[in-house]
Amino acid sequence: MKILMVCLGNICRSPLAEGIMRTKVETIGLPWLVDSAGTGSWHVGELPDPRSIQIARENGINITDQRARQLQKSDLDLFDLILAMDSSNYNDILRLSNNPDHEAKVKMIMNFVQPGYNQNVPDPYWDDNGFEKVFQMLDAACDKIIEEMSH
Ligand code: 4NP
Repeated sequence: MKILMVCLGNICRSPLAEGIMRTKVETIGLPWLVDSAGTGSWHVGELPDPRSIQIARENGINITDQRARQLQKSDLDLFDLILAMDSSNYNDILRLSNNPDHEAKVKMIMNFVQPGYNQNVPDPYWDDNGFEKVFQMLDAACDKIIEEMSH
């Protein structure tokens, strides 16, 4: 299983999602590839946001080896599951391709917790207090994804 976490900047939400998921699959011993990317290019090459690094560290997860990259059309071929943090990410991802095989791989990440609700993981970039909530949401979603996809 190859999973790609996608947000807008690839510095706040998707690096956390990548770090949480990678830590869980390594602990369990699942041979999954986990990566992340942003639909936008503004932060390419940058470390995750310091507030994401901090909330990850408080939870025993190191994400400082990550650098932001922009989502490529080729990612839709490479990955099996492409997880959007919010509905605008979802629409931006689908805009890269008309291929139904690609479209079938793209999901809203919180639908693994509440199927069909299309709940957004709120963008915490302008909200210093948003990171704890984002961490908890992504942690719950990653548990559900593993539960659903690992058997
Ligand atoms: P992310 O958060 O999509 O969770 O990485 C953002 C990071 C940067 C910006 C917006 C959202 N920005 O506008 O630069």
